[in-house]
Amino acid sequence: MGDANGVTVVIFGASGDLTQRKLIPALYNLFRKKRLPDEFNIVGVSRTVLAHEQFRDDMRDSVKEFSGDTFTDENWKEFAKHIWYSPGDAAKTDQLDKVKTFLESKENGTSNRLYYLSVAPNLYPTIVNNLGQLNMTQDNGGWRRIIIEKPFGVDLESALKLNKIVQSHFEEKQIYRIDHYLGKETAQNILFFRFANTIFEPVWNRNYVDNVQITVAETVDVGHRAAYYDEAGVVRDMFQNHILQLMALVTMEPPNAFNANDLRNEKLKLLNAIRPIALSDTVRAQYEGYLETEGVAKKSQTPTYAAMKLYIDNWRWQGVPFYLRSGKALKAKTSQIRVRFQRPPGIMLNAMNDESCTPNTLTLFIQPDEGIHLNFQAKVPDSSQDTQDVDMEFSYQKTFGAQGIPEAYERLILDAIHGDPVLFTRSDEIERLWAIIDPVLKGWETQKAPPIVTYKPGMWGPKEAEELLKRDNHVWRLAYKPEGTE
Ligand code: BG6
Repeated sequence: MGDANGVTVVIFGASGDLTQRKLIPALYNLFRKKRLPDEFNIVGVSRTVLAHEQFRDDMRDSVKEFSGDTFTDENWKEFAKHIWYSPGDAAKTDQLDKVKTFLESKENGTSNRLYYLSVAPNLYPTIVNNLGQLNMTQDNGGWRRIIIEKPFGVDLESALKLNKIVQSHFEEKQIYRIDHYLGKETAQNILFFRFANTIFEPVWNRNYVDNVQITVAETVDVGHRAAYYDEAGVVRDMFQNHILQLMALVTMEPPNAFNANDLRNEKLKLLNAIRPIALSDTVRAQYEGYLETEGVAKKSQTPTYAAMKLYIDNWRWQGVPFYLRSGKALKAKTSQIRVRFQRPPGIMLNAMNDESCTPNTLTLFIQPDEGIHLNFQAKVPDSSQDTQDVDMEFSYQKTFGAQGIPEAYERLILDAIHGDPVLFTRSDEIERLWAIIDPVLKGWETQKAPPIVTYKPGMWGPKEAEELLKRDNHVWRLAYKPEGTE
């Protein structure tokens, strides 16, 4: 599809973590699966001076470490023939000009080019301007596209500015703002689950749903990313993008067609219906020990955990609370979306009046243990009226095998090569996401805000987050406890 001329993938920020952990392993797997065009080049660009061979060796180690069990020497040898390195600071025009000359030496004049911006976000405007100035942005025999890593801005104002700069050099159809959660199979499956079946959608609304919980918990702490993280915090890092995107997929109306325009229009419509978040419905917390991390400001107020309650003011969801939480240094790594249905009337069966009898729950496991669980009540055999919560399970691994789930970046890079932006964030969508989050971040800087609290690493977060739900007679629940937790 439009890639008959061959493709050059140019990675700015080639010595960075993302390149090693995700981008090169994803490209390697695409190559192994024969998904890349016959003619392709990968050109790493960063300031470090490296020979091609050195760069390839480094990337070989990364692929070995991060591409699962798919590494083989034979595949690597073939793949490595397509990898090049061009040292240079893309924020400096003269150095980017040298990179341009190198790219042209590897291309046939009509090659397509995919730029991947994976540098420090404060460099995005300069690099994009430089690409424009050096005439590297116009489709020119071959297409030019750009993938921009998150974070896209730090607030609404900066996102607006960045959109303006990027759009002054690229057309919207050339711009791919990435949110890797949208590339996860389990996230993509949300729409298929809802709209490729008939039995769930009729109950997917305020008449049947009591509340929805989204948990994105990580065990890792901020590690060596403190410099970035202390500026960003959990809300910019996880809520503005990944979690709100998951929520939008769970709640949006069916698009007329599965194409980028229709789908993103519906998503935007949903995001527009999110009610301004009350500060009293938010909790922010920091894990104990965070302040001692190298790179973290002494009196940092940056939250590493947040929980909040949201409402969607539209016909389908009016009055249904959405509880969202995410944090680092928690007890287990798990991302779950939990749809809790309403209690049946407790007229016929005594057990229905018992609080221990849980209403139906449908849980989408985004990761790990990818799958879907439906909990319902069954009569306990040999009892007169006792019921028990039982679980009906779909597991990706059992159904599709251990290799069934590709890395999100594989799908997203391939979509960008094929020119399909359906899983990328449009400019108006990203601006709306910031508009939802900005007032919370700004509110937290004021006196009115609930103070930041702490939590012990290895637990599920602060007690204030429990209290947030208790006020509504709810508790945070995980469908089943990930292995190794109580
Ligand atoms: C990134 C965040 O976008 O997502 C990280 O910057 C976070 O802080 C990561 O750890 C989580 O991604 P995943 O795919 O491991 O859930």
